[in-house]
Formats: sequence, C-alpha cells, structure tokens
Amino acid sequence: MTNGPPDPEAIPFNPLDPGFARSPQSSYARLHDPQSPQSAALAGSPLITRYEDALWALRHPEVFSSEMDVEMALGTERPMIPQQIDPPRQTQFRKILDPLFSRKRMQAIEPAIRSHATRLIDAFAGSGRCEFNRAFAIPYPCIIFLQLMGLPPEDLDLFLELKDGIIRPPTPAGDMEAAVEHRAKTGKRIYAYFEDAIDERRGEPRDDIISHLLGAQIDGKPLTRNEMLDICYLFLLGGLDTVTATIGCNVLYLAENPTQRRRLVENPELIPVAVEELLRWETPVTGVPRVVKRDVRLGEREFSKGSLVMILLGAANVDEGEFAPAEQVDLERGRNRHLAFGGGPHRCLGSHFARIELRIAMEELLRRIPDYEVAPGESPRVSPGIREVIYLPLVWDAS
Ligand code: HEM
Repeated sequence: MTNGPPDPEAIPFNPLDPGFARSPQSSYARLHDPQSPQSAALAGSPLITRYEDALWALRHPEVFSSEMDVEMALGTERPMIPQQIDPPRQTQFRKILDPLFSRKRMQAIEPAIRSHATRLIDAFAGSGRCEFNRAFAIPYPCIIFLQLMGLPPEDLDLFLELKDGIIRPPTPAGDMEAAVEHRAKTGKRIYAYFEDAIDERRGEPRDDIISHLLGAQIDGKPLTRNEMLDICYLFLLGGLDTVTATIGCNVLYLAENPTQRRRLVENPELIPVAVEELLRWETPVTGVPRVVKRDVRLGEREFSKGSLVMILLGAANVDEGEFAPAEQVDLERGRNRHLAFGGGPHRCLGSHFARIELRIAMEELLRRIPDYEVAPGESPRVSPGIREVIYLPLVWDAS
C-alpha cells in the first residue's frame, strides 16, 4: 500500500516541517482566520497571508522592500540582482532582462526544450520505475538552462553541485557554522565560474544570455562585471530548483489523483490551464521575505517599521476571497490570478520560460507514461522551504 499524504487536519503550521511541506494547503487556509494564534508569525517574522494583502505588499516595494540589511545567507558577497534591490534601480535591470526572457524568445526554443524532455524520458520509460527527482525533475531544467546561458552541457554535474552547495549544503544537519562556511566557499566558486564564462565572451559574443548581458547598457554605460555576476548568481539559484520543485509537486499530485490525471491524458489541450491551477495549488515557492520601511496597516494587522515579514504566497493562493472554491483543484479554472510567480515589480522574470518547461514536461510525460503511481510501500518526501519532492519513487506498467 502506498503511504498517502498525511491527514491535513493533523498538520500544524510550520513551513520548516517536512509533514507540512507535503500537504500545506489546509494549514494555510486556517491562517486566514485572524483569531488563529498561528496567523501571527513564523520564527518572529509576521506573516501576510490574505490574497489582497499579499498583492498590495508585493506591489508596494517602497513599503515592503526587498533590500535586506541581513547577513548574506546564500554565499553571496553582494545583493543578487534584480531580486534583492528595489525600484527604481531594479526597474532598470528588468528593462534589460525582460526581453531576454520574453514569451516570443522562449517559444523559439520550445523544440529544443521538447527534445531534452523526450531524451530524458526515453532513458527510463521502458524500465517501469524511476526515482523521478533524479531521473527527470533535477536534470531537465538544468540542461535547458545551460543551453540558454550558452554553457557547455558537460558542466551539468558541476552546475548541480554548485547549486546544491548553496541550497542544501552537504554539512551535518543543524551545524549552521559548517553550512555558512560551505555556502561561502561555494559562492566563491560560482563567481569564479561565471567570471570565466564572461571573459570567454568578451570580444567574441555569441547568441546566449551572458553575451547579451555584455552588450547591455544602463544610462549609456555597460553593466559592471559585478552586476553581471550578481545576475548570473541569481539565475543559478532562482531558475533551477523552482522548476524542479514544481514538476515534482505536479507529478506527485497526478500520481495521487488518477481521475484528474486521466482527464489530462484524454484531453492534453487542458494541460496549459492545468499547469496554472497546479502552480496555484502547490505554490512550490511558499513565500517571499520583505523588510517593512514604515509602519503600515493591512486589513486588521499592523506591521512595524524595520520588521522582517514573510509574504506567504501559498496561503494567498488558497484564499477563498479570491479563489472560491479554493480547496478544489479545478484543472479547468477560468480566472486564476495566482501568486506562485510573485507579483508587482519583482514578479518572476522566468515565468514564460518556466511555463513552457512545465507544460512540455507534463505533455511528454503523460504521453509516454499515462498511467503511473507512487511505488507501493514507499513514501515520497517533500523538502521544506521550496517544496521540492526530493524522493519520488514511481512505477508503471512498461510491458
Ligand atoms: C516554476 C518555476 C518558478 C517559480 C515558481 C518561480 C517563482 C518566483 C517568485 C515567487 C519570484 C518573486 C520573488 C520575490 O518577489 O522576491 C521570482 C522571481 C524571480 N525569478 Fe522565478 N520562479 C520560477 C522559475 C524561474 C526561472 C526558470 C527563472 C530563470 C531565469 C527565474 C528567475 C527569476 C528571477 C531573476 C527573479 C527575480 C525578479 C526580480 O526581482 O525582478 N524564475 N520567481
């Protein structure tokens, strides 16, 4: 028998708990009750949970700032661009970066994305089983990303090691000092890797993202080397795990909800709308932090200047006020203004790119392996923070 998801009513609100990460939606819904003792804070950070409040906070960076005066926790030596800087400077960078990730540009690479997806699926489809995270969800966005950046495919393992060295350092659990040290060392390697890539393209530009950064200008001046590095660093951290996590959550949901899966197998034209609904429901990037710049009131809650708050995107995405019935996964949902990609000026730069990756992954997987389930007796594991399904053993009839 498969160990299904835990009883949602029994799960306390704790985004750092793996049980919560597996099935957070009902706990989120409870946070919308202002009387709930849990709605107040997470590890001292006040929470913004209602859809309307979250959208307001995301759209007002002059009140809820992304410039955090906290120690660089991700091995960085400077703020990552554009995520950790505020408008108007952030807007100048988005003007350069948005065209590089436009819908049109991303559609042009769709055939290449599809061929990477089918090649990976070919490697395991005939075997009738796989650990899905390792077999597909991790390498798929990484291979595509290397190509988009113009980096050699042989660097896949190195790229994964660098990314994991920051996001999940291989240090003893709970040893914060060792984790910080490992991240700092890995951060230096990431800067060095991208410095080499930038140098290789100076004077010899190619049709890739790094070459475009070399040719870009703000106020008539080229980007500095550090600005380019701070952008590339963010791409490595923001563009890979997010896609891995979303694909894993989607595939697990469809493993545990076979009726929904069959609807998509029989009606693949529903997949683009289903991808949006699963982004809403799963919200793999559960929240984004902000610093409050002045005392402010949102709904019934006061936020004081200087405090670090968490905008809980996952909670906002199950707010009945916006999504009724929010607890129902409607793969044909019409209006769906979910916040899984954030909102306001920092809304995800890679959303067109991610959507194509997610759609193609689902189309190709359901076409090749329409009927799959979690391996009997096994329990998938979902990591806290970014909700990545770190262990997802699947089986299907390959005869
Ligand atoms: C399903 C996959 C993805 C999800 C769920 C996701 C989610 C998010 C969210 C929630 C934000 C807002 C952060 C904030 O407000 O502080 C964000 C920003 C960002 N994302 Fe994504 N992301 C995904 C894929 C990608 C990809 C493929 C890229 C590749 C370039 C990317 C690059 C970025 C960048 C550069 C930002 C910062 C934008 C800014 O601050 O102006 N993301 N993403």
